[in-house]
Amino acid sequence: MNRSNLRVNANRLRLSLEEMAKIGATPGGGVQRLTLTDEDRQARDLFVKWLLEIECKVTVDEMGNIFGCRPGKDNSLAPVMSGSHIDSQPRGGRFDGILGVMGALEVLRTLHENKVQTERPMVVVDWTNEEGSRFYPAMMASGVWAEAIQRDWAYDRRDITGKRFEDELVRIGYKGDAPCRKFPVHAYYELHIEQGPMLERQQKLIGAPKGILCLHWYDVHLSGEANQVGPTPMEGRHDALVAAAEMILKVRGLPGRMGGNMVATVGEIQNYPNSRNIIPDRVHFTVDIRSWDDDLALRAWDLLRKDFEAIAATHGCPIKIDETWRVGHSPFDEILVQRVLEVADELGYPNMLWVSGAGHDASYTNHVCPTAMIFVPSIGGRSHVEIENSRWEDCEAGCNVLLHCLLSGANEF
Ligand code: GLV
Ligand code: MN
Ligand code: MN
Repeated sequence: MNRSNLRVNANRLRLSLEEMAKIGATPGGGVQRLTLTDEDRQARDLFVKWLLEIECKVTVDEMGNIFGCRPGKDNSLAPVMSGSHIDSQPRGGRFDGILGVMGALEVLRTLHENKVQTERPMVVVDWTNEEGSRFYPAMMASGVWAEAIQRDWAYDRRDITGKRFEDELVRIGYKGDAPCRKFPVHAYYELHIEQGPMLERQQKLIGAPKGILCLHWYDVHLSGEANQVGPTPMEGRHDALVAAAEMILKVRGLPGRMGGNMVATVGEIQNYPNSRNIIPDRVHFTVDIRSWDDDLALRAWDLLRKDFEAIAATHGCPIKIDETWRVGHSPFDEILVQRVLEVADELGYPNMLWVSGAGHDASYTNHVCPTAMIFVPSIGGRSHVEIENSRWEDCEAGCNVLLHCLLSGANEF
């Protein structure tokens, strides 16, 4: 058959996504498949089964990344690679991550059933712990693969209940033997939902992000003085939660103060002892700052840090700040980004150049090999929530773009 007429099987893609959405399904229509939980294991097992059905060679590395390889004519050539993540946010959506894994699998299934041989091998990957909500940081295992994060440090991360990353990896049976280390890759494409409103607003079907914003994460720990709320006068209190509240408002005002081009969020907070009639004596909260301009984000943090210290002093609440994780903004390979736009044009899909505000494993693969992403619209721009949704036709369109980007990469020398 003429390869340019090749298309993915939309129905099969939908059925695979629906099957995956049953694993960790939540009452509100989303999924909760936190990394290295039993749900993650169940979804991984199904993914591996599907890879074996199309005769892929499956390799699991020591960070639990799963690679399914479809041989090419010349297996000494660097493969083209595509994938994303199977894990989700707590009460997350049915498309974030899994679309990129099922999309890449669908491409390989399409090539398999049409007996298409490519020059280069093709690899589908599931990266472990992209979300970073159970074990920080995000994109952890692609970070180890890219040699930006140390494996043993990653192994020692603990979740909120004290469970260690490596122990959980062993427990679910996905601590593989292969070293988690970058290998030559000819091109990496990641299909993903946009997770924002712009494609929908612009009435475009395909987005090609020029890259990903920087992600800077901080952890703030405040100590106060606990006491009975009734008899303790308002003046002279050391209320760690009130100090945190003032700090959170500073975070909210930060992008405006810096002149835009950045976002700043407090998404997680723990308050102790968390009783309505005890003045809080311990608070932990997180800060997430993102921008295309790393320097702006760093300057913003300098200001914020000074504000935090002043607020802590006013309340008499000692503060400890951890600069937890930073990944720089990641401009993608211009040729690959262009190819996404060209393929979308060839297939007749309205498209646009855009930027990714969400973090992706592509940020780390971009350190290692030419990288680009393919975005499809998120209905209402909603993501990391149970009602996250995308049209099946849009997923199909994104997957067809992925198919032809991968095919052209796999046949060039
Ligand atoms: C990952 O999903 C992120 O953008 O934080
Ligand atoms: Mn994602
Ligand atoms: Mn996500």
